[in-house]
Amino acid sequence: MSSASAAQHMRLTTTSPTVNALQLLCASVLLLIACGRQEGTAARQSTVALCAPALPAAPYGYSDADTPIPRHFVASPVGTVIFADNTPPSNRTTNPGAELGRVLFYDVRLSANDRIACASCHQQSLGFGDTARFSSGFHGDHLARHTMALANARFYRYGFGWDGRGASLEAQVLRPITDSIEMGIDPGALERKLAATSFYPGLFVGAFGSPEITRDRIAAALAQFVRSLVSAQSRFDAAFATGSAPDYSLLTQEERDGFHIFNSAGCVNCHRTIAQFADTVHNTGLDSASADTGSGQARFRAASLRNIAVRAPYMHDGRFATLREVVEFYSEHIRASPSLDARLRGADGSPRRLHLSAAQRDALVAYLRTLTDSSFLRATRFSDPFPCHQRP
Ligand code: HEC
Ligand code: HEC
Repeated sequence: MSSASAAQHMRLTTTSPTVNALQLLCASVLLLIACGRQEGTAARQSTVALCAPALPAAPYGYSDADTPIPRHFVASPVGTVIFADNTPPSNRTTNPGAELGRVLFYDVRLSANDRIACASCHQQSLGFGDTARFSSGFHGDHLARHTMALANARFYRYGFGWDGRGASLEAQVLRPITDSIEMGIDPGALERKLAATSFYPGLFVGAFGSPEITRDRIAAALAQFVRSLVSAQSRFDAAFATGSAPDYSLLTQEERDGFHIFNSAGCVNCHRTIAQFADTVHNTGLDSASADTGSGQARFRAASLRNIAVRAPYMHDGRFATLREVVEFYSEHIRASPSLDARLRGADGSPRRLHLSAAQRDALVAYLRTLTDSSFLRATRFSDPFPCHQRP
């Protein structure tokens, strides 16, 4: 059997009616068991159904040929993203590669006890973030930091994670798999577990041309999927996607005022470009001294602000429950410390006080809400492909 027809064969077997009937039966039995337990996402139930993914006959379009970087991201009056594209030449995104990444991202088999997937913490409807201040790992233990959102990670140049220590997306996606709190699985054991399934060898053939399952290939496919999570269809984008000058009439007056404050108050100096990604790590003055020192001297970096309104709480420790609290912090409560970023200091070096009025705070929050991209939050190509995870 050729590589292509082997992949096709796997695709057919994964969606056969018998398999689906069995999956449904298995899912309903497990749901009965799960119903009596505490609430939580499907993947956090203590028993999670295992099944094969249901995939389309041909993979969705993830590659640059099928889904190019949006034009207004490339030629934008508020800063192009193209200089920051972190796609390595050795791991360009292909449709079968990102499809494999999607399957891995949603698969609880990536944890030691089949309970936690990447998607248990990074939930699509929450901009691939989480509502928990500290998400819990495969044994139910809490992590030390809040889950980061994943949109527009294709455009980060200065490291990954709140502390910027992940050297590349390929390196970052392996961190949770082996982490003793997050997923806790040995890479060798994971390779063997995936090789023993009916569907992964075929998906690896489609993505890489041969069925070998290695940690490097797992990382490459996951990185391709995460890189494909470009969020560019919010209401804010609509104003810039007109092809010529921005059409600010697509925003309300309050939202326009908020955008103006975002620029004039210097938010844009750190949350940069059309994609609002962080340039690098900074001490933003959350505390005058803190136990978590981030990359050193309490410096942290933020993810792109896309979908910020749907993914409270905020900051590396999830300390702020609402955007209003975040804005209040930047306006009134920045704390002094030797490493406080210069952009958050006044002329005399002390923490800057914006003293925004109530209307200005509302406007800034209204602007941040325009960054919600509902088509991204619902896109099927980013969604859970495992039928047995769905509740009726
Ligand atoms: C138990 C919860 C949990 C699981 C499971 C999890 N993550 Fe995360 N993820 C986090 C947290 C928390 C952070 C921030 C870590 C830090 O900076 O200390 C993060 C950070 C990231 C980042 C960096 C984002 C950025 O802006 O730099 C990426 C990428 C990522 N995760 C991808 C994944 C992938 C892929 C998987 C599955 C293999 C996964 N995560 C599994 C909680 C989780
Ligand atoms: C000096 C750089 C800098 C400036 C200026 C700045 N920010 Fe931030 N912002 C950051 C960093 C770094 C973080 C993450 C801090 C942390 O969690 O420790 C962050 C976090 C945030 C978050 C939460 C992100 C999340 O995923 O939880 C929001 C919202 C935000 N900033 C909005 C703003 C607004 C609005 C302004 C202007 C009033 C602003 N920022 C000014 C650097 C900056």
